[in-house]
Amino acid sequence: MSDVVLELQNVSRIFGEGDTQVKALDNVSLSIRRGEFVLIVGSSGSGKSTLLNMIGLLDKPTSGKVILDGKETTTLNDGQVSQYRNEKLGFVFQFANLLPDLTVLENVMLPQQIQRSSEDIRQNATDLLVKVGLEDQINKRSNKISGGQAQRAAIARGLVNRPTIVLADEPTGNLDSVTAGKIVKLAKTMAKELNQTFIIVTHDRHQFPDVDRVITIKDGKAFSGEETTMEIAA
Ligand SMILES: Nc1ncnc2c1ncn2[C@@H]1O[C@H](COP(=O)(O)OP(=O)(O)O)[C@@H](O)[C@H]1O
Ligand SMILES: [Mg+2]
Repeated sequence: MSDVVLELQNVSRIFGEGDTQVKALDNVSLSIRRGEFVLIVGSSGSGKSTLLNMIGLLDKPTSGKVILDGKETTTLNDGQVSQYRNEKLGFVFQFANLLPDLTVLENVMLPQQIQRSSEDIRQNATDLLVKVGLEDQINKRSNKISGGQAQRAAIARGLVNRPTIVLADEPTGNLDSVTAGKIVKLAKTMAKELNQTFIIVTHDRHQFPDVDRVITIKDGKAFSGEETTMEIAA
């Protein structure tokens, strides 16, 4: 199996028409390997969310190709896309989005797939909750845990289907910096332990000091590495 799990080839996404046309992504090509921990950074309006929507198969490019785990996805129909998305991707959002009346374990089991047995899912969910340090909270109702614990559960939920890629949009945006730091460390540990690819979008580079790769989006274009910080003239 190829080591490359995701490839974008000349992806552009244009919104609107005529004078009001916005090129949110401009000919983006990139390739990401299994186990990589990748950070996507850029200022507000640069195109980060549009890019994440492309990778997450939540939106299609105006032109170009999105190849996920060896399959070209832009030609798939809506039903095929959602099935492939459920199979290959795990999502972690800024807010944990747990269902408050369900237990932590029930929440983590939610994205389960029909082709797996519920016993397998329960076991996998339980194992992941232990790994993310929530062994004591497994049967608590989700509205009885802290914000940091909820985000740990959300990471476990993102991993439960053993996705090819976990996508996270500002996963620490709602947490204080100490808790955020712990969540970042946890994601990193999970990535290494499970050889799991993570693609994380953030506007806050400093939250993620230690990553395999940084991709900077500027005016819809992707650059490898980060923008050099300009020094303020004294
Ligand atoms: N659905 C949309 N319709 C029109 N313009 C959009 C839409 N989504 C994003 N844009 C525009 O595309 C550009 C990139 O947006 P976005 O990807 O949300 O940036 P970021 O996530 O980096 O803040 C912005 O100029 C934004 O206004
Ligand atoms: Mg955004």
